[in-house]
Amino acid sequence: MTNNDIPSRPHRPIRSFVRRAGRLTPSQQRALQELWPSYGVVLGRSALDLDALFNRTAPRVLEIGFGNGETLVQQAAENPDSDYLGIEVHEPGVGHCLLSAQSAGITNLKLIAHDAIEVLEAHIPLGSLQRINLYFPDPWPKKRHHKRRIIQPAFLKLCADRLAEGGALHVATDWANYAEHIDEVLSESDLFRCSERREHDGDQPLDRPMTKFERRGLRKGHRIWDWRFEKL
Ligand SMILES: C[S@@+](CC[C@H](N)C(=O)[O-])C[C@H]1O[C@@H](n2cnc3c(N)ncnc32)[C@H](O)[C@@H]1O
Repeated sequence: MTNNDIPSRPHRPIRSFVRRAGRLTPSQQRALQELWPSYGVVLGRSALDLDALFNRTAPRVLEIGFGNGETLVQQAAENPDSDYLGIEVHEPGVGHCLLSAQSAGITNLKLIAHDAIEVLEAHIPLGSLQRINLYFPDPWPKKRHHKRRIIQPAFLKLCADRLAEGGALHVATDWANYAEHIDEVLSESDLFRCSERREHDGDQPLDRPMTKFERRGLRKGHRIWDWRFEKL
């Protein structure tokens, strides 16, 4: 068999995550079965109709990679006049978030269990979001993995196009080298302007609750960086 005979592999995109096996607890499993119909979004082929999804017109906030969802649920509970959309690929995190949403009794939250890049590309309408939150994205510390970091020029373009006029991208990290990368990529972008930047010890976040990964970073002695990038 020559090289020419080897069937070409379909193009595999570089993803910002690897699917971890992560065991579901029995209550997370139950949540995925029983609560998903209330909070989960089943993606079709076309863009979502957000007014129909939330059954109203309201400012919309998207959180990418919400982890266990504690920050997302808290923000949704504190801001009942806005709608919250969360994207996460880690199933136990989605299960955990569903349970928190149920105990908070909120109705302004919907969850998507899929790659955020594909969701942004195909399902989030242009100009439909007031705010995008990206809290503690996977830092991919090894140099050979830097290409997996979600913050790249193409991602910024996707975000800018989905944000409404006056919308903003909020980012936080506890990883110094990722903070440098974020500063660099954003300073070269003509789509966003940094309107706030804070380096702190978990005590001065921009307007957000503390997250699970932030707590973990602080326990390891990391500093925290928070940014607000305004769409130009
Ligand atoms: C380091 S964790 C941070 C979780 C949470 N934001 C926090 O601060 O506790 C990053 C999360 O992003 C999720 N993630 C990474 N890339 C993603 C993508 N392309 N689409 C959806 N989720 C993604 C991972 O599954 C992981 O749960």
